[in-house]
Amino acid sequence: MTVPRFSATDNPDPAALGEAFARDGVLVIEDFVDKPARDNLKRRIADLVETFDPDTVRTVFSTTKQSHAADNYFKGSGDTVRFFLEEGAFDDHGVLLKPKDRVLNKIGHAMHDLDPVFSAFSRTEALSDLAYGLGLTDPGLVQSMVIFKQPEIGGEVTLHQDATFLHTEPVSVTGFWFALEDADESNGCLYALPGAHRQGLKERFHYTDNDTLAMSPVDPVSFDTDTAVPLVAPAGTLVVLHGLLPHRSGPNLSKRSRMAYTLHVVDRAAEWAEDNWLRRAPEMPFLGFSE
Ligand code: FE2
Repeated sequence: MTVPRFSATDNPDPAALGEAFARDGVLVIEDFVDKPARDNLKRRIADLVETFDPDTVRTVFSTTKQSHAADNYFKGSGDTVRFFLEEGAFDDHGVLLKPKDRVLNKIGHAMHDLDPVFSAFSRTEALSDLAYGLGLTDPGLVQSMVIFKQPEIGGEVTLHQDATFLHTEPVSVTGFWFALEDADESNGCLYALPGAHRQGLKERFHYTDNDTLAMSPVDPVSFDTDTAVPLVAPAGTLVVLHGLLPHRSGPNLSKRSRMAYTLHVVDRAAEWAEDNWLRRAPEMPFLGFSE
């Protein structure tokens, strides 16, 4: 199975986008971000990395071990900008094995509100129109991440649904994944199970008390992972992911980096689950595209 590919330069019919999204739970829209906009964001990312002092951070972000979940550095990152490292970044003596710009797993999770360059990138008219067009009635921007997927060291992201991590009632989270560099099967592109968003939520990652995060099963029936298709994405492509669509990405074993930026949006008309891992200070509510 394949999913249709759209190009933003063709001004695709919103009804056709909506139809494909309802059927597949995913949209692949090439040429959504032009090269100047990509370069501008990549320059800003390089500036942020320049300011990052790896000696201040020892949090490895691992979706296979969820080791970051017990860490206050991760728990407190919902309304700030923090840096997370790859597995294998350090040797046994805590010494970095590669230069700092080669061991970062991601930056998250509130650049879209706290950094003017990220805010502008996240609040374009085209993106706002797309979000409303896909049925979000009162979109709120809740989470942003730079995913580095470094050459040779970039780890896999295991199969998951974004609604596991950013839950609303009803489910409304929508992922906007921007390829800042070419992504294909050899450098860890996304894989998804088209149509499987109709199989419901499988698990939730949430607080069980004020300080403990846990993964809880919701539905024991697992997905048929044989139906996964690669979502090859040339730089500038936007991949839109329904919150219930299972997706993953492989490790990057190539010599090419595969940097992406993701923005997660919920419908503020839906009820935000107060036990979600992502927390905001009261003075930092989720803002919309034009707030
Ligand atoms: Fe995801």
